[in-house]
Amino acid sequence: MKNLVLLISGRGSNLQSILQAEREQGWGIRVRGVISNRAGVAGLEVARSFGVPTQVIAHTDFASREAFDLALAEAIDALQPDVIALCGFMRVLGAAFVDRFAGRLVNIHPSLLPAFTGLRTHARALEEGVKWHGATVHLVSNALDHGPILAQAAVPVLDDDTVEMLSARVLFEEHRIYPPVVRAMLEGRVQIDGLRARIQPAAESSS
Ligand code: GAR
Repeated sequence: MKNLVLLISGRGSNLQSILQAEREQGWGIRVRGVISNRAGVAGLEVARSFGVPTQVIAHTDFASREAFDLALAEAIDALQPDVIALCGFMRVLGAAFVDRFAGRLVNIHPSLLPAFTGLRTHARALEEGVKWHGATVHLVSNALDHGPILAQAAVPVLDDDTVEMLSARVLFEEHRIYPPVVRAMLEGRVQIDGLRARIQPAAESSS
């Protein structure tokens, strides 16, 4: 049975979409734990409501990025994950961390990468006047927000959009595209060729 670990920093709505899909569809995996780098965030409650064990490893408790990354990596290793899904995890992970979990680390980013890497993606999309915006699920590599793209969804930017309206439209798509990719990774259906990724369809159910 494959093991899944999820990392959060806040609200946890993507976490919820994955846990909900796993529960409804019966992925046949173990959700080993949810780790947050912030105490008291709503996502920890989401995890508990699904009966998933939680841990807080606060980056503020560590003197350096490397020390935090190492503590986080050791906590993750102890859970023996096959896939680690970043669900609104808002810390940049160093090269040693990314290398340690290469091929197992997946992230969702609120833009159509490679446009709008980094923060404030919805505000920047409005400032730049783009007509389409969206979300990307990608493997984490050492180039920030630039690993192989596993799924994308585009939404129109409307004339009267605010950051709130646009982010809600994108978030709806995030919840739709992220769970099937996490499932495909757990089922070994993702093939990578450079920056290009291909996801094989799920096996036909016999029922
Ligand atoms: C989501 O929009 C996610 O795409 C974004 O943070 C939000 C977390 O919401 N992630 C990043 O910006 C990563 N750089 P959630 O906690 O409700 O899933």
